[in-house]
Amino acid sequence: MSRIAYVNGQYVRHADAAVHIEDRGYQFADGVYEVCEVWNNQIVDMPRHLDRLGRSLSELSIDWPMSRAAVEFVLRQVVRRNKVHNGIVYIQVTRGVSRRDHFFPPETVAPSIVVTARSSSPAAGQALAETGISVFSYPENRWPRVDIKSIALLPNCLAKQSAKEKGGKEAWYVDADGNVTEGGSTNAWIVTKEGVLVTRPAENGILRGITRAGILDLVAREGLAFEERAFSLEEAYDAREAFVTAATNIAMPVVRIDERVIGNGHPGSVATRLRELFHTATDLKVV
Ligand code: PDD
Repeated sequence: MSRIAYVNGQYVRHADAAVHIEDRGYQFADGVYEVCEVWNNQIVDMPRHLDRLGRSLSELSIDWPMSRAAVEFVLRQVVRRNKVHNGIVYIQVTRGVSRRDHFFPPETVAPSIVVTARSSSPAAGQALAETGISVFSYPENRWPRVDIKSIALLPNCLAKQSAKEKGGKEAWYVDADGNVTEGGSTNAWIVTKEGVLVTRPAENGILRGITRAGILDLVAREGLAFEERAFSLEEAYDAREAFVTAATNIAMPVVRIDERVIGNGHPGSVATRLRELFHTATDLKVV
């Protein structure tokens, strides 16, 4: 079966899918994106992802490429046509195709939209979660508007690659105050020695993760001890547990930060439980 992508109104073979060389996404990273988890033939938290997409678009004054209902339909179609039962669906919207010019193009230029989907193995994700991952700290060097889910991800690629070269799976950005902001493509959490779950407020310095929001719902439902506040890298080194969250990995235990072993070096019980229960606290839309 060949993979299918949706590009500006058409379903095309993934291998042939293309956008114009003067797409502003290509030339200026002038666009935004979302990644939704597909779990058991359902798209996880699609309304929240589309709310955030709308916010990112509006912060950059990019129009919706089509109605929100049409976007929902296309997301479902792309998942279905690619027979993705577990994996992700990706949507990218850019300011469109226009002669290269830093100024915005005329209003007649329509935004571009691309949707792709791909399968991933839940068993492989689970195996990783049973071992836990290593993360490496990295100086925060991104623009202040990381609340916008922009496709300008070069700093994130550099931070993650640097972690990979040291044997890690994620980078944790550390700001000028020594506090962890977030991961290269995840939100960051710790559980203190006293058993309190901590994550940084979403007001500044981080993307307001949709998985983060689902975990917060779960935390409230389960009545877990929780504080939304900044935490330092030093505090994280001494934590009982650490983990990261994203649509691509639910809650993924962290067992090493830099050269420090976290807790007893095994995935923590809080992260493991939140991972197990996660989908019970989400909105699931059958594909
Ligand atoms: N990344 N922070 C950053 C910088 C991210 O890129 C992401 C998601 C998150 C977690 O957000 P959510 O829970 O909504 O996935 C936090 C996606 C998965 C990516 O770029 O592939």
